Amino acid sequence: MKLKALLLACACLTLVACGGVDPDSPLGQRQALFKQMLKVSEDLGGMLRGRIAYDEAGFIAGAAELERLSRQPWQHFPQVRDDERSKATDEVWQRQAQFQQLARELEQATAALVQATAAPPLRRAALEPAVQQVEDSCEACHQAFRAY
Ligand code: HEC
Repeated sequence: MKLKALLLACACLTLVACGGVDPDSPLGQRQALFKQMLKVSEDLGGMLRGRIAYDEAGFIAGAAELERLSRQPWQHFPQVRDDERSKATDEVWQRQAQFQQLARELEQATAALVQATAAPPLRRAALEPAVQQVEDSCEACHQAFRAY
């Protein structure tokens, strides 16, 4: 019993020491989703810019995955600011309507990207502006609502 309590105390200390975010908390969940979105969108951009090999099936799957992910993070922003380790600015909660608007714009951009992958063989000329639009949507919201 004592050992268990000791182990638990150690685990808590480690968590605090590393500034570890509980992966099940709203902050932990939205951070994980944002990281996945970054990974997928970097791969899509990387394929078009020649950083990684272009693979049509992979691109189509990535676009679908990004669309799915782009609808997820917003539900993990609670009604009031939750965690001081959050990199969201206070504006997220003060200007909810604009924040939600930019979230919708990303969702529309990822839906348009999926649309651009609907009829293979895919044309770069259609993919490039669609990926650019997604990247611009990430950027627009980060400039307004993310503290670096
Ligand atoms: C509507 C606003 C909005 C859009 C659109 C948006 N983000 Fe973010 N993003 C945020 C906010 C706010 C944070 C800070 C979250 C926090 O720490 O609470 C963030 C954080 C992140 C992080 C850091 C996560 C971490 O581990 O701390 C990454 C990576 C990221 N976003 C990637 C993206 C990518 C890639 C896109 C586009 C595909 C995107 N975001 C679109 C608002 C947005």
